Amino acid sequence: MSVSYPNLRMRRTRASQWSRALHRENILTPADLIWPLFVTSGAGVEEPIATLPGVSRWSVDGIAQRAKEAAAMGIPCVALFPNTPADRRSDDGAEALNPDNLMCQAIKAIRDACGSDIGILTDVALDPYTSHGQDGLVDDGGYVVNDDTVAVLVDQALNQAEAGADIIAPSDMMDGRVRAIRMALEMNGHPNVQIMSYAAKYASAFYGPFRDAVGSRGLLKGDKKTYQMDPANGDEALREVALDIAEGADSVMVKPGLPYLDIVRRVKERFEVPVFAYQVSGEYAMIEAAVAAGAGDRDALVLETLLAFKRAGCSGVLSYHAFHAARLLGG
Ligand code: PBG
Repeated sequence: MSVSYPNLRMRRTRASQWSRALHRENILTPADLIWPLFVTSGAGVEEPIATLPGVSRWSVDGIAQRAKEAAAMGIPCVALFPNTPADRRSDDGAEALNPDNLMCQAIKAIRDACGSDIGILTDVALDPYTSHGQDGLVDDGGYVVNDDTVAVLVDQALNQAEAGADIIAPSDMMDGRVRAIRMALEMNGHPNVQIMSYAAKYASAFYGPFRDAVGSRGLLKGDKKTYQMDPANGDEALREVALDIAEGADSVMVKPGLPYLDIVRRVKERFEVPVFAYQVSGEYAMIEAAVAAGAGDRDALVLETLLAFKRAGCSGVLSYHAFHAARLLGG
């Protein structure tokens, strides 16, 4: 027996603020947010990023300050990305293994400033450290080789864990790297360091501003299509996620965000693991461009898009709007 108009009026429960609050199915809180931060050299430095209006790179002291403010706002985790100085980039990305690189300095500075009040997520991939802008080691033909790259990524992950990282987030899309990193963490005294794998990461046109932020855009030759996923594929994302879970990932990520909410939903329905999404730089830039063009209200656009991730099944979202959103949410 189906109920229909006028016995059923869908607008009845929407008629007042209290009733909308009572019937709300999903909520967004500052605890759902991870805030990506870009680290640069020097002291007291803030460098605005032209293609990410409102986002800056900060020197290590500023990063610690931002993390402190984030923690006070109820944001549980920050994600770190370095803008490695040009003279420290090389073909093999060796700076990724330097225990005193920008990433490690930032981890330690945050720990000093915040103790365990905030989680520190670190990206594992070589692109901020290589002179060619690829995420791994490149052979003579320009192909990013898998197994040799994984060996370096393991050392990169250990370097970050030694410095105090809480969550290792491999964003490189090499095969087998989650198992290799998990085993290395276990064998080197870091059993509680988590792995959040970028399990379904697409070869996307939405990463441009990020590459400006870490200084790899001008360096990158070619594209990343031999390792990042084809935007046409959905089933393949489920296979990637299944593998990363089997290899020891504690949580998985889908990236980019809004254009791939179908993937988030499918992963959430198929697997019993925490799912995160990365609302990436190009998505942030699109919202800011819309606001600048007078096409929409920033606060409303930000909260609506972030809530969409919760509705799709995310445990949390990496977003450059995280701090702004936390403030709007009364954090
Ligand atoms: C690097 C990495 C990228 C992003 C996060 N980690 C760029 C890429 O794969 O080229 C993109 C994030 C963003 O666009 O905000 N492995």
